[in-house]
Amino acid sequence: MRLKDQVAIITGAAGAFGGAIAQRFAQEGADLALADLNEGGLQETARLVEAAGRRALPCHCDVTQRADVEALVDQTIARFGRFTTMVANAGVAQTVPFLEMTDEDWQRVIDVNLTGVFLCDQIAGQRLAEQGQAGAIVNLASQLAEIGWPIGAAYAASKAGVKSLTKSAALALAPHGIRVNAIGPGPVHTLLNDDRYAIPEIKAHAERHIPLGGLGRPQDVAQVACFLASAESKWVTGETVFVDGGFLLNAYDDPAMAAALQRAVSNASSGATLPGRSGSGVDC
Ligand SMILES: NC(=O)c1ccc[n+]([C@@H]2O[C@H](COP(=O)([O-])OP(=O)(O)OC[C@H]3O[C@@H](n4cnc5c(N)ncnc54)[C@H](O)[C@@H]3O)[C@@H](O)[C@H]2O)c1
Repeated sequence: MRLKDQVAIITGAAGAFGGAIAQRFAQEGADLALADLNEGGLQETARLVEAAGRRALPCHCDVTQRADVEALVDQTIARFGRFTTMVANAGVAQTVPFLEMTDEDWQRVIDVNLTGVFLCDQIAGQRLAEQGQAGAIVNLASQLAEIGWPIGAAYAASKAGVKSLTKSAALALAPHGIRVNAIGPGPVHTLLNDDRYAIPEIKAHAERHIPLGGLGRPQDVAQVACFLASAESKWVTGETVFVDGGFLLNAYDDPAMAAALQRAVSNASSGATLPGRSGSGVDC
C-alpha cells in the first residue's frame, strides 16, 4: 500500500476528482478528512472510503473562509491524532465572455480557486510544521494555467496563480520536510464543465485534439495525486504535473493546418528551399 498509515485531508471531496482521489487514497491505506459544502456528496464519498476499509471524517467547510479551514485541520488532528497530506482540490468554473465579466464573477472564482488553495496550503503547512510532521500538499491547477481562456479569464488566471503559489509554498515548506506539488488536468467531463461538454461538438473537438485519444477520467487524476502524496515522489517539489493526454502539446490539429504541414513534409523531402536562396533545405 502506497499511503499506509497516512491521514489525508481532501477539499472538494463531494465532487468528481475529490471522490476519485478519496477512493484511491483509501485503497492505498489512508484515513481521510473529507471537506466540501455539499453535505449529500460528502456522505457518498465517506461511504466509498469506508467500503475500502478506511476511516472517513466528513466536514462542512468553505475553503474561502480561514476559520473553516482552521477548523477542518483541527478536527482532523482531534479525530486521527495527526495528518500527513492536504489535497487542495475544491474549485469552481465559470463561462463568461471576458468583456462581460463583472467584478463579482472575477472575485468568486479567485476566492475559491486561488485564495482557497492559499488558505489550505498555509494552514496545513503551519500545523504540519508545529507537529514536526513531514508531509505532502497537492494542489489542483489546470491545463488552463498555461493558455488563455476568453470565456473563463478568472478561472485561467486562478489556475496560473495556483501554479505559481505551488512554487513559493514548496520553497517555504521544504525546510520542514513538506513537499508541495500541483496537478494540471486536461478536459474531464464533470459537473464543473457540464455546460460545455454536454454540447456534442465541443466534446468531439476536445476528444480529437487530445493526442492520447478521448477525454480523461477522474481516476487518471487520482492516480497522479496518489503518486505526489506518496514517498515515490519524495524528491519532487514545486512541480505542476499536467495530466492531459498531451492536450497542451497539440497546437496544430486544425485540418487545414494538418494539410499544410503535409505539404511542408513534401517540401522537406524534395529539398525545396526559399525562392532566391540556395542551401541544403534544412532551415529552422
Ligand atoms: N473537470 C476538469 O476537466 C478539470 C480540469 C482541470 C482542473 N480541474 C480542477 O479540479 C478540481 C475538481 O474539479 P471537478 O471536475 O472534480 O469539479 P466538481 O464540480 O465535480 O467538484 C468540485 C467540488 O468543489 C466543491 N466546492 C466548490 N466551492 C467550494 C468551497 N468554497 N468550499 C468547499 N468546497 C467547494 C464543490 O461543492 C464540488 O463538490 C477543481 O479545482 C477544478 O478546477 C478540473
